[in-house]
Amino acid sequence: MAVSNKIRNFMDQGSWIRRMFEEGIELKQRYGDDNVFDLSLGNPVIDPPSEFFDELNRFVSDPVPGIHRYMPNAGLLETRRAVANQLGQETGLGFSANEIVMTCGAGGGLNVVMKTLMDPGDEFVIFSPFFVEYHFYADNHGGSCRVVPPDENFLPVMDKFRNAVTDKTRGVLINSPNNPTGVLYTSEVLEQISEIIDEKEKQFGTEIYLVSDEPYRKLLFDNLEYPHIFNHRVRSIVATSHSKDLALPGERIGYIAVNPTLEDREELIDGLVFCNRTLGFVNAPALIQHIVGSLQSVTVDVGIYEKKRDYLYEALVGMGYSVVRPQGAFYMFPRSPIEDDVQFIEELKRHKVLAVPGRGFGLPGYFRLSYCLEDSTIEGALPGLQLALSKYS
Ligand SMILES: Cc1ncc(COP(=O)(O)O)c(C=O)c1O
Repeated sequence: MAVSNKIRNFMDQGSWIRRMFEEGIELKQRYGDDNVFDLSLGNPVIDPPSEFFDELNRFVSDPVPGIHRYMPNAGLLETRRAVANQLGQETGLGFSANEIVMTCGAGGGLNVVMKTLMDPGDEFVIFSPFFVEYHFYADNHGGSCRVVPPDENFLPVMDKFRNAVTDKTRGVLINSPNNPTGVLYTSEVLEQISEIIDEKEKQFGTEIYLVSDEPYRKLLFDNLEYPHIFNHRVRSIVATSHSKDLALPGERIGYIAVNPTLEDREELIDGLVFCNRTLGFVNAPALIQHIVGSLQSVTVDVGIYEKKRDYLYEALVGMGYSVVRPQGAFYMFPRSPIEDDVQFIEELKRHKVLAVPGRGFGLPGYFRLSYCLEDSTIEGALPGLQLALSKYS
């Protein structure tokens, strides 16, 4: 037996996106690239902004001696200062480099946060639909996730949330704008979540962190402003990355930020830096840390995603799909016309359209479409989406 039973089970549970990816390759080999419409992956097709290439060229043509060496485990001081400065402007709070730890993407950052906070048996509360890796990340550190179901707009059902917080809860993990729904949590939602956490901390005599996984923070539409958790809760941590806002997912660069008004933050930050080191990341990749420091106020052209959102949303609603209009990120999560989302995905596949069933995100009865894709892929998927719907209506 090559792998443990546990990992074999996890691989089965967490493989929807990978499975669609592999089936996509097979279908493309059979029918040709242009005849298969793969809306299953969140891998942006747009390139990083020109400022990224300018900075990369500038840096490569005048390399700083010693840049490839080990560095402090929290990351480069200059980069952390730049991140702190940007967060200070966005939140009005006095961030310094001390509150920033550079990480290997948001995924690396979340592992560092969970490892730092949880004893074996501890829990994180998460909200469905969720990024499937959360369960595996919590398990990496001897913990687990408790799931709260959503209302019809994919917002938390607050009474269910209240019941999900126990004396084992160390963190409440939110993701807004959300993968897979594109929904943004408003200030009011953050306020309600914070009040419930306060209430539960008092009830159990515990400390509970609000953790925000926000790689899509800057991918917001309709001129919406991003409500930062730091303005709603003192005991709060952000884990994010430049995978989506600078279109650099392969470079594995992100950061953790701790609320600068948290009094006992020093021990927490020491713990985060220790875990960044001992999880084997050691430090975030050096070269890309040098580059992203000066790009903190730069973002890919969000208008491109907004246009794709408008196009796909209008088309789906016009066909008769029920969809919550995304406010950010680059996914939408329509209701499956039949209860069995996997059967519906199979029907879509017959029309050479690939999507991910909602159960891959802990919410059966829906399916996820990515639109960080070429227009031709999105356009080409529409006839198949129409035919699959027609079969069941
Ligand atoms: C909600 C969410 N969190 C975390 C990640 C991981 O991002 P990163 O590439 O920064 O590790 C992703 C990637 O798709 C995501 O969608």
